[in-house]
Amino acid sequence: MPKDMPKDMKDSFTLAQLSDPHLSSLERVRKRDLLGKRALGYLSWLVNRRAEHRVEVLAALVRDLHCQQPDHIVITGDLTHLGLPHEFEEAKDWLCTLGSSSRVTVVPGNHDAYVAASWDRSFPQWAPYMISDSDGHQTVTTSGGGTTFPSLRIRGPIALIGVSTARPSAPFLAVGSLGASQLHKLGEVLEQAGREQLFRIVLMHHPPLPGIVRWRKRLTDSAHFRAVVARYGAELILHGHAHRTSFVQLETSVESPLAIGVPSASAHGRKKGGRAQYHIYRLTRTSEGWQLLLSVHAYSPAEDRFKPQGETRLRVPSRAG
Ligand SMILES: [Fe+2]
Repeated sequence: MPKDMPKDMKDSFTLAQLSDPHLSSLERVRKRDLLGKRALGYLSWLVNRRAEHRVEVLAALVRDLHCQQPDHIVITGDLTHLGLPHEFEEAKDWLCTLGSSSRVTVVPGNHDAYVAASWDRSFPQWAPYMISDSDGHQTVTTSGGGTTFPSLRIRGPIALIGVSTARPSAPFLAVGSLGASQLHKLGEVLEQAGREQLFRIVLMHHPPLPGIVRWRKRLTDSAHFRAVVARYGAELILHGHAHRTSFVQLETSVESPLAIGVPSASAHGRKKGGRAQYHIYRLTRTSEGWQLLLSVHAYSPAEDRFKPQGETRLRVPSRAG
């Protein structure tokens, strides 16, 4: 346990996860912005996504979230639709309403890196919410105008380790990857945080296992990611991208963490199982290790509000302690 940790944060922590809010509007997009893959994405928004991802649903989520007052909030990607500069600005403004950058952590999704775009007008706007900010853990560097993941943010007994799986892909594909360099650094961060007995939560957009999303949406180097986690350890993986709930153990070993996906934060629910939810994880250190309770908050269209749907005790890997 780090010595400088405030007493009241040593043994318990409350973390909220939401994902895939797709909160930006394309109502006033310009034709010249819609070249290549973005033209297809705009059509998809016009025909389908515009009716599904609703500002009123996301507003109801934020209201409920503020009532819950979690210690920290994580957003596992896809804040935008096409990754356009004005969408990054809208998302930045929304992040400010959610909380300060010390209480909110973001990792990007494939929609945020929809096509290869100007760095200056995109991710730097979210940098305060993405960068490492724990003394002695400067894993984030800036090179060539880009922020390099993994990020590390230590809050109470938790190490929030963000990785980026977002990269541009060809039309009709929504794949992601981490790449060899990020995977190498991830191993170092996991090892260091494990030595400090922190509860390691990896934040990523794409699910780290095959079968959760279709082939065209997969994480191409998921096997390499799982090998790094198997070697260095992690206690929990949180992801988005699938727009539905998912609980899968990373490997069959008892030391293997759960990978948990959450539906989109703004989905009205036209698809079965796709209606908006968010998760609250209550982590408590006990004499036997960690206790992790999940509370699911789901959107009720009839009441236009989010309601808790009970609490579930989650398995924590045996080597966590
Ligand atoms: Fe996605």
